[in-house]
Amino acid sequence: MQKLLTWIDDRFPLTKVWKEHLAEYYAPKNFNFWYYFGSLALLVLVMQIFTGIFLTMHYKPDTALAFASVEYIMRDVPWGWLIRYMHSVGASAFFIVVYLHMFRGLLYGSYRGPRELVWLIGAMIFLALMAEAFMGYLLPWGNMSYWGAQVIISLFDAIPWVGPALSEWIRGDFVVGDATLNRFFAFHVIAVPLVLVMLVFLHIVALHKVGSNNPDGIEIKKKKGPDGHPVDGIPFHPYYTVKDIVGVTVFLILFAAVLFFAPELGGWFLEPDNFTPANILQTPPEIVPLWYFTPFYSILRANVYNFLWIDAKIWGVFFMFLAIAVFFMLPWLDKSPVKSIRYRGRLYKIALALFVVSFVILGYLGVKSPQAVDLILFKNVHWAGICTIVYFLFFFLMPVYTRLDKTKPEPERVTK
Ligand code: HEM
Repeated sequence: MQKLLTWIDDRFPLTKVWKEHLAEYYAPKNFNFWYYFGSLALLVLVMQIFTGIFLTMHYKPDTALAFASVEYIMRDVPWGWLIRYMHSVGASAFFIVVYLHMFRGLLYGSYRGPRELVWLIGAMIFLALMAEAFMGYLLPWGNMSYWGAQVIISLFDAIPWVGPALSEWIRGDFVVGDATLNRFFAFHVIAVPLVLVMLVFLHIVALHKVGSNNPDGIEIKKKKGPDGHPVDGIPFHPYYTVKDIVGVTVFLILFAAVLFFAPELGGWFLEPDNFTPANILQTPPEIVPLWYFTPFYSILRANVYNFLWIDAKIWGVFFMFLAIAVFFMLPWLDKSPVKSIRYRGRLYKIALALFVVSFVILGYLGVKSPQAVDLILFKNVHWAGICTIVYFLFFFLMPVYTRLDKTKPEPERVTK
């Protein structure tokens, strides 16, 4: 074995990579619960690619055959139901894991220098993930697939001058049709996954260049021992590989529970309207995306006023895209002298809590009719307006409240 390894090492830096990124990658010794979600995101990515390959073997990207081919997978292909449900539950699991992973960044200031690029690449991953999920959702050619794509692609109509031509170009037709399904298939099975895998690779390369942050938000590289390693660091392997196995086990138990007992999760993971084939003559009563898009969908629908001579719909589209774009600005909005929530003052804690509450309410309102009253006092659309304002204030007031906040001094060494 040693001879084989030397043979490989003379031709490829296998041992070097193993040491640099695992056995001698020194990670802070105080990683907690929130540090499970990076490796879990990696696991779900691999699972989606693996199950996706098997689905592609039986799926037919043709409007006349697509719906039936998915039913065929569910009923006739051996274990097809399992592969399909793993992929559909996996999509929701991906967003749960990634949202928690991003929230960890907000808790511990992981987006701050020197990790700006880790965060920016992460934000690109998030964008690619949204594109991947959106295009995947058209493939079963259910009624919600069809109308969801129809609504979202028509948003581009709102762009002045070029809008209508752009949306026609995206669809490849005047309405969502065979050309749209075919190109979405191509993007969903190869183009976007390739981009995702490359971005994830860059994400980890960038992280390993600067080193991981930790729940105390202090830089462990500043205090090195005589051996040249950070005194508060431990080798990633075996310490965190073993810890991550615990996370993976718990995750797989929860995943299997949903997969085997409630794969549609009451319409949250697969919508009832998608069990009927696409019908261009029958619009579903409420066109709603899956839960992970609903906060942004609410922001899109929240603005009902035309102002500055610009149509309300255009503002809606603008704010929806801005809601994602603000994540790219985050590293430069935070002016606090500390990174972790542990040493921040009351202002940041209140701002973060309000942001999370507004995000959850926006998500809830995204599946409700805008004109109904599901919360107290106001119509849903007005609550969506209020939550949209809170959402943006979290970001745009950040330079102010992080400067005013009364922070505590950071410790010299990591605590727990
Ligand atoms: C496919 C999706 C993703 C995968 C596979 C992934 C993977 C990882 C892994 C393995 C780590 C190191 C372990 C950890 O700190 O948990 C990490 C760290 C990090 N990720 Fe991601 N990530 C993804 C998406 C994102 C997104 C969407 C963002 C933010 C917009 C993001 C921001 C970060 C940051 C800031 C760190 C450093 C955290 C720290 O050191 O405290 N990631 N990611």
